[in-house]
Amino acid sequence: MLPPAVRIYAVTNIKGGVGKTTTAVNLAYLCAAGGCPTVLWDLDSQGGATFALRGEEQSGASARKLLSGKRQLPELILATGYPGLDLLPADFSYRNFAVQLAQRKHPTERLLRMSGALREIYGALFLDCPAGISLLSENVLRAADVAIVPLVPTPLSLRMLVQLRDFIEREGWQDLKLLPFFSMVDRRRSLHRELIAEARAQFPQMLTTEVPNWSEIERLTVRRAPLAAVAPASPAAQLYGQLWGEITARTAAVEHAGATSSVGAGDHAAQPPAH
Ligand SMILES: Nc1ncnc2c1ncn2[C@@H]1O[C@H](COP(=O)(O)OP(=O)(O)OP(=O)(O)O)[C@@H](O)[C@H]1O
Ligand SMILES: [Mg+2]
Repeated sequence: MLPPAVRIYAVTNIKGGVGKTTTAVNLAYLCAAGGCPTVLWDLDSQGGATFALRGEEQSGASARKLLSGKRQLPELILATGYPGLDLLPADFSYRNFAVQLAQRKHPTERLLRMSGALREIYGALFLDCPAGISLLSENVLRAADVAIVPLVPTPLSLRMLVQLRDFIEREGWQDLKLLPFFSMVDRRRSLHRELIAEARAQFPQMLTTEVPNWSEIERLTVRRAPLAAVAPASPAAQLYGQLWGEITARTAAVEHAGATSSVGAGDHAAQPPAH
């Protein structure tokens, strides 16, 4: 019998600068802190998540080598120093990931197949995705169980969400749970309030937690650590805790092939690493 599958959470949006990396780092930390062995794969050649978790590029870990099978994902795992949380660091070659994928057989399934090598090690895999729509993003959605989509309240964001929902429906990926939430919200702005109300009416699956535009969250790029690790009592850390609680509640029903068996295996509370 196959070991339990790893549950895959993709943090994705066509738009750049909406909070994908911030979300991926904070939620992956919380997932690990909850006792689920977790790995975050930084798929963005910019390496934002790798930087935030103080990781470094691995030599010889190009997209081409991974896709050809010369390197396997488990060889590239780095410990973050936080219990239960590992990192698959970004590589600059990832900027050509889509081109490399296009040269392979079954190009839309490669990521899913590659993630199979992680199933004996982890209960959860977070994918921090680059902005844009490409063969890589299609791979990500094909592989994912949950698509977490941070949305800045603008009319274009809503249009993108409609396109994404229609695309998932057309592909017939019924098991993929689409979980959008509002990010960088400024409730003092009437346009933000109006767009959020409209989106909530149109998308009942929209998460209720909203992440405001706060400098405390922005400062994470300087602190290079998840919020809950450095300031667990802060309002921002509490907010990500609430977001994660909502996601776990909504995905409790997404049971695929016994994915829960490794969840809750440990009782280790995550501590900040000694950086
Ligand atoms: N809620 C927030 N409030 C204020 N600043 C934020 C918030 N979330 C993220 N930021 C800041 O906004 C910038 C973009 O965030 P982030 O890198 O998480 O977005 P991204 O969607 O991953 O961007 P990219 O598409 O470039 O990968 C960063 O400087 C980050 O610190
Ligand atoms: Mg990013």
